[in-house]
Amino acid sequence: MSQKKVDFLIIGSGIAGLSYALKVAEFGSVCMITKSDQDESNTKYAQGGIASVTYQPDSIEKHVRDTLVAGDGLCDEEVVNMVISEGPKRIEELIEWGARFDKTEQGEFDLGKEGGHSENRILHHKDNTGWEIERALIEQVHSHKNIEILDHHFAVEIITQHHLGQYVNSSTPGITCFGAYVLNTITGRTDVILARTTLMASGGAGNVYATTTNPRIATGDGVAMVYRAKGRVADMEFIQFHPTAMYQPGVQPAFLITEALRGDGAVLRNQKGEEFMYRYDERGSLAPRDIVARAIDNELKVNGEDYVLLDCKNIQPERLELHFPNILARCRAAGIDPLMESIPVVPACHYMCGGIVVDQNGQTSINHLYAAGECSRTGLHGGNRLASNSLLEALVYSNRASNDVIRKFEMVEFAQNVPEWDIKGTADPEEMVLITQTQKELQAIMSNYVGIVRSNIRLERALDRLQILNRETENMYRRTTLSAPLCELRNLILVGYLIIKAARLRKESRGLHYSIDYPRPGETLLRTSGQKP
Ligand code: FAD
Ligand code: SIN
Repeated sequence: MSQKKVDFLIIGSGIAGLSYALKVAEFGSVCMITKSDQDESNTKYAQGGIASVTYQPDSIEKHVRDTLVAGDGLCDEEVVNMVISEGPKRIEELIEWGARFDKTEQGEFDLGKEGGHSENRILHHKDNTGWEIERALIEQVHSHKNIEILDHHFAVEIITQHHLGQYVNSSTPGITCFGAYVLNTITGRTDVILARTTLMASGGAGNVYATTTNPRIATGDGVAMVYRAKGRVADMEFIQFHPTAMYQPGVQPAFLITEALRGDGAVLRNQKGEEFMYRYDERGSLAPRDIVARAIDNELKVNGEDYVLLDCKNIQPERLELHFPNILARCRAAGIDPLMESIPVVPACHYMCGGIVVDQNGQTSINHLYAAGECSRTGLHGGNRLASNSLLEALVYSNRASNDVIRKFEMVEFAQNVPEWDIKGTADPEEMVLITQTQKELQAIMSNYVGIVRSNIRLERALDRLQILNRETENMYRRTTLSAPLCELRNLILVGYLIIKAARLRKESRGLHYSIDYPRPGETLLRTSGQKP
């Protein structure tokens, strides 16, 4: 086993980890570990773009208001004001780092619109904004001599007093992070990386559900590690389902059909051809995501159908070809030409609004541990994230965390006498089938009982089933050699448990958490009448 010492350890190479690395690398040594190839992340698949105020008639006040409305009364207003106000500066920086955003013939940004936005304010690069951001940031990171990136290195646990043999519980004052145990998934060796400070930038947990837009890496590892280390986690009941993923049974991840298409005029119809969204909300197909996803879910149940349709014929064919080339290519590969026919779509798990609780500097409840990006819970999203606010949040918080950490890291001592990872268990080829099967069971439980529409009895049933999976998996973990798939399964089960626990505590329908046992006053979900205005 080897032991490495760095000033700044970063877990994850999406927008949060990469943009933070570029800042702190000016001041000390950086080691960024990432469990797959370095560009594999939720960031890479972002389509719609980044929401930020650029021109009038848009304003900070309008963007703040839209964010608060989407968040359903649960946003931290101070955080919302801070993120939206600091956004434009962070976008300028991203452009300086080489990210390209589409412009009009007049040389102004070609701003898109998505559900819940009162103005066009979304900067984008065609329909693959995330790929462009990831490309630009990775290029910058490669040119920095202080940054080492370790691909295929999986963070198993953060190191705290617990690993030094000291007793820790949730009321221990000053739980401290000293780095992480890291599994090299190529060699199978688990090493210690000691760090003065650590940033958790491990992204979301979409794979806790059966259908998700998230790539394989999104298994909630950061949230699970921090929770096991007795750090604070919150708002886990607010899981965002994107209304429009392409309906292709068996294809994982589900391919996203960006909301920007609806911003450009595409509309949702049921299979009878009805523009059903006006029955649910006066904003029609551009209502906030939680409302659209619930409405689709209801249409599917009421009509007994497997998908609804996204009709793009209001958008000029030239505009579709120019601005949405990847979506067109992916649909055509599946035998659908959006210029001629509607795209079959269904909701899919997309984004985790809750996560590791951080203050306005990205500091978690654990000393020397920061968190940024989708794994964190900042208070920006409240009960429901406004579309395209997450890339912005990651940039703003990575910047704030870097400013804070730069002031403090030199005073932090490295931990002494950290034990090696306790190698135990034997490799057993039969275990892989147990892992994949258990993951499928977990995803079925979460999708059937803890999805878009919930109830007390469904949540109770989900909890009972999860307890069995948890017991079996913990037994397997104790007797099997450490592997990334087994760690991911443990993490997914824990994240599932945290979602259920938070959902059971919320005795109301709010934002993305909808329970038939606690309808909103005056609300009936089942709408069969209502007209387009
Ligand atoms: P990620 O980009 O997911 O990066 C996480 C990193 O952590 C990865 O490198 C991963 O390999 C690594 N990692 C995870 N666990 C471990 C571990 N145990 N050890 C080591 N490494 C680990 N948001 C918007 O604002 N606008 C959009 O248009 C938009 N479109 C989207 C489209 C899709 C299809 C998806 C899936 C998401 C979209 N989002 C969008 C959401 C947004 O992309 C993400 O919230 C954001 O990119 C998260 O960035 P991040 O850096 O926090 O995490
Ligand atoms: C999309 O392009 O529809 C996704 C945007 C987001 O998740 O913010």
